[in-house]
Amino acid sequence: MPRHILVTGGAGFIGSHICKALSRAGMIPVTYDNLSTGHADSVRWGPLVRADLADAAMLRRTMAEFSPDCVIHCGANAYVGESVDMPRKYYRNNVVGSLTLLEACLDQDIGRIVFSSSCATYGVPASLPIWEESPQQPVNPYGRTKLIFEMALEDFAAAYGIRFAALRYFNAAGADPEGELAERHEPETHLIPRALLAAAGRLDRLDIFGTDYATEDGTCVRDYIHVSDLAQAHLAAVNHLMADGGSLSVNLGSGRGTSVREILDAVYRASGREVPVRYRPRRPGDPPILFANTARAKAELGFVPALSDIDTIIRTAGPTFGLEVTA
Ligand code: UFG
Repeated sequence: MPRHILVTGGAGFIGSHICKALSRAGMIPVTYDNLSTGHADSVRWGPLVRADLADAAMLRRTMAEFSPDCVIHCGANAYVGESVDMPRKYYRNNVVGSLTLLEACLDQDIGRIVFSSSCATYGVPASLPIWEESPQQPVNPYGRTKLIFEMALEDFAAAYGIRFAALRYFNAAGADPEGELAERHEPETHLIPRALLAAAGRLDRLDIFGTDYATEDGTCVRDYIHVSDLAQAHLAAVNHLMADGGSLSVNLGSGRGTSVREILDAVYRASGREVPVRYRPRRPGDPPILFANTARAKAELGFVPALSDIDTIIRTAGPTFGLEVTA
């Protein structure tokens, strides 16, 4: 009997790549998604249950029907800016919704949870690279909602014996190298998609937010990790928990920092197209530099990114945004 894995948010950008990886490993992903930001046509490797995390009865019914061995919880709202303007939505969906899921897991005797956490839980780091014991002091409601649920997982693990893997993503980017899945956000606010759209002529220009940071070229530095690598890390986390591994919190990044200008250089290398840009002031709340110490993911999960060099990220994502890549 193949294992069933319940994936909340399985119709989203990251969730759908995770479902594909699970399926490739012989498991059946059961997507639980309200399609508020996900896409039904991205659910191709297992059933879709269209429902909300707030629907405790439907969560229990779905768990009873499929008896999943593990839950991967990706379903969340994930715009930092929106979380500042609409914290109510973020606390409702990311905290209350997640707790509803966690209680359903307890009631249905599902003791393994993989959680999509974020480097946003660290806030502005005092030192780099960021490792898992760095202080978690989020600077926006989104990061706080992710941290609150990490804390709930720890407390529930101690009291009720569940086991969890909190995966703190850095910047997810790229697309399925086989071209079956893409990033589709509405609105699209992320740097790499916008740079690709601008290079493809589908956007007038890319705004560069801040050129006066204390970085080598003055633009912000982030740690981009390929979404298919992220998906593999989830598979490793599921296998870790299935093999009775203990609870853990790990960074998922490439371990390298890449500046906004370096992204634009990579777009040029891949396509021969310049990204038209406009220089803008800093975006409020942007930390200047974020990149991960990745040692724990390697030690605990045996996870080493294979596709997360910036050229591969750009080459796999380019065509999905209408940009022809040359190599
Ligand atoms: N940027 C631009 N122009 C744009 C978009 C972004 O210059 O049009 C810059 C940003 O200022 C930032 C970098 O490109 O320095 C990356 O920005 P993204 O919006 O692509 O990603 P963020 O680093 O802001 O956000 C990501 C995740 C969030 C997570 C956050 C944690 O998308 O979910 O990291 O810091 F919370």
